[in-house]
Formats: sequence, C-alpha cells, structure tokens
Amino acid sequence: SLRERGYSYETLLETANYLLSRTSIRPQIGIICGSGMGSYWKEGSLAENIEDAERFPYEEIPNFPVSTVEGHHGQLVFGKISGAPVVAMQGRFHYYEGYPLWKCCLPVRVMKLLGVQTLIATNAAGGLNPEFRVGDLMIVKDHINMMGFAGNNPLHGPNDERFGPRFPPMSKAYDYEFRNIAKEVAKELKIDDIVREGVYTCLGGPNFETVAELNMLKLVGCDAVGMSTVHEVITARHCNMKVFGMSLITNECVVCYNSDEANHEEVLDVGRMRQEVLRKYLSTLVKRFAQL
Ligand code: 6GU
Repeated sequence: SLRERGYSYETLLETANYLLSRTSIRPQIGIICGSGMGSYWKEGSLAENIEDAERFPYEEIPNFPVSTVEGHHGQLVFGKISGAPVVAMQGRFHYYEGYPLWKCCLPVRVMKLLGVQTLIATNAAGGLNPEFRVGDLMIVKDHINMMGFAGNNPLHGPNDERFGPRFPPMSKAYDYEFRNIAKEVAKELKIDDIVREGVYTCLGGPNFETVAELNMLKLVGCDAVGMSTVHEVITARHCNMKVFGMSLITNECVVCYNSDEANHEEVLDVGRMRQEVLRKYLSTLVKRFAQL
C-alpha cells in the first residue's frame, strides 16, 4: 500500500501548505535537534532559543508520523536564529521506534517543500576514534550507511523525480564549504580544542553495540556511531539540499570487555553539559550559512 511505500509528493505538499498557511516564516535552513541538542529537554536548548517561535506539535501536523515516545512531545519550531528564518525539529523519528526509514525522513521532504535549502542534522554519538573525548563536537565529514548495506534505505521503492534522481550521488554529502566555515567559527569561538571532524555511522539500535561490533566499525573507518542522521542526509541530498552534520560525542566506545557500559542517561548528561557551547556554536553557524 501507499503507506508502506512512502507518501506521495501531493500528500507532502498538503503538509507543507498546511504549515505555510499558519506561519509567516519562510525557512531557509532546517535543523534537526538530536539528543545532544536539546530534543529531550526544554530549558536552554537550541530549539527553545529560536526568536519569534511558532510551534507545531507533531500530532497536529497532517500526515506527520505519530510519536511513540511517552511524555516526549516532538514539535516543529519556526522562527529566527541570528536573524535567519529557520525551521527546527525538536525531536526526530528514530528507526528503533518502529518507523520505516522513509517515514523517519518524511520531515526532511516536508522541509524541502517549505523552501529549505540547507539541512543541519545534529546527533549524539559514541566516539570510536581513540583521540575523541566525551564532550567533543564532531563535524561530520562523511558517513557509512550500514543499514544501506543490508538493503534498508529511505529511498527504497518507486522514485519520484520531483524530489530527485533514481540514483543520487553521495560523494559530496557533507558540504565542503560548510565544514570549512565550521572550523573557522570553532577558532573564532575558541572551541577548536573540542571540535573534531570524522566519519559517522548509523546502526538501527535500540541496543548499543557489542565490543566486537564496535571493533568492526573502528576497523572500517568509523569515528563515531549513533542511531540517526545517515538516512536523513540521504533524503536531503536526494532532493538537492546542502547538508551540515554535527555529532556530540557523549561516550567513548572503549573496545575492551571491562570498560563501562554505554547508557542513555550519560548521553543526556553530556548534552546538558555542552548545551551552552552548542547553542552558541550552532547559532553562529546558522548566521554564517545564511549569509552564503
Ligand atoms: Cl555507543 N552507539 C550508538 N549506536 N549510538 C550512540 C552511542 C553508541 N552513544 C551515543 N549514541
């Protein structure tokens, strides 16, 4: 059925038009706020610091996925950051919640239809690169689509050329200019000692990885591992949006059997710890990206 294969262009236009008729903001930049960026708490998060904010809870948006996480109300926030019109997802849809990948990425296509040209995707991730420390920020240079290797891809199924081509390239997924700006801004803000660059990979979750799995990911060149972003970026590149990715390293994936186990609380704690830095960094980046 249609539900299994994704929504039609027309259905997503309905969603975009619903939103556009209820806000005067015409966003240039779309932001996905991951666990590191305040999707789970309110006070001080990037999404809560949007000027002239207009909020749309996901359950009120026609054709939007219904959130499965109890007590966690996702919303789209329209408004301005550093003067630039933006739309932010406060909370994303994860594969481990049970949505097919295309549904996790539906908001990215809605953003495209809203007029968004640039996607900023943020996440919390485990650090595989031994030089990374808890609290570091990793500019995403590239990704490895592990779920794609197994045949699971958000673009699987019939292609609608109005979004993009059947066989989209991914070799320039993470915009070179954005990454350079992010390094410059890191110096300006004197946070270049905690800003890194690397390769992100996404696994389906919800469990964290075994030691053998983490070792394998290290061996094949992954610097950080999480449970999101890759499919969103594929969907964004398919429809020709420019992409910037940023991971907050919330734990070190020490690949030995007697190291501490990863847990969700520490992921959230590190997010809170870095909240101020992230808000300043991301809002400066939005300003700079909007000037291009
Ligand atoms: Cl260790 N693994 C995954 N898949 N996601 C994470 C993580 C680890 N730490 C934070 N997010």
